[in-house]
Amino acid sequence: MANRNEEFEPLWGPDGVVCHAVEDTIRLGVWLASEIGTGSVVSLEGPLGAGKTQLTKGLVAGLGSPDAVTSPSFALVHEYSGGEITVFHFDFYRMESAAELDTTGYDDCLAAGITIIEWGNKFPEVLPPGTIRIRVEILPGGGRRIRAERL
Ligand SMILES: Nc1ncnc2c1ncn2[C@@H]1O[C@H](COP(=O)(O)OP(=O)(O)OP(=O)(O)O)[C@@H](O)[C@H]1O
Ligand SMILES: [Mg+2]
Repeated sequence: MANRNEEFEPLWGPDGVVCHAVEDTIRLGVWLASEIGTGSVVSLEGPLGAGKTQLTKGLVAGLGSPDAVTSPSFALVHEYSGGEITVFHFDFYRMESAAELDTTGYDDCLAAGITIIEWGNKFPEVLPPGTIRIRVEILPGGGRRIRAERL
């Protein structure tokens, strides 16, 4: 099975995986898609330009959607419905309070598909138990160390 390689398994371990190039980060996202399903919530955490949107591109592609992925900074949420499972892509970066989510149908999104949240650590109180927390760290050489855990 093409997608069941073990290259990225250490993602769940203490050292995570190092993605040297943006293409590796996208492939990691594609691989991660095989680990999740309806109801999964993924919180992407790390500094500006870490690669959260690139990882989302891989995830959405891995879930079978041909939709173009762009940062939902102003819209709060983008919906990609081109695959078998609908993906809701949030970005909490510009939000001032979690109450802004009330207008987005956030709770319905959590149940209806896969929810990916950039800057999810800004409002940890809205991340349900079982959320997959992914932390992206920018390494001195420009690579990215990426780790995952379940909350
Ligand atoms: N190993 C890598 N993994 C991911 N991105 C990389 C890597 N190396 C370089 N890059 C570059 O870093 C940038 C990451 O941008 P991206 O929009 O994904 O960041 P982000 O974490 O979503 O930022 P923001 O917080 O502004 O939303 C891209 O320009 C990408 O080409
Ligand atoms: Mg982004």
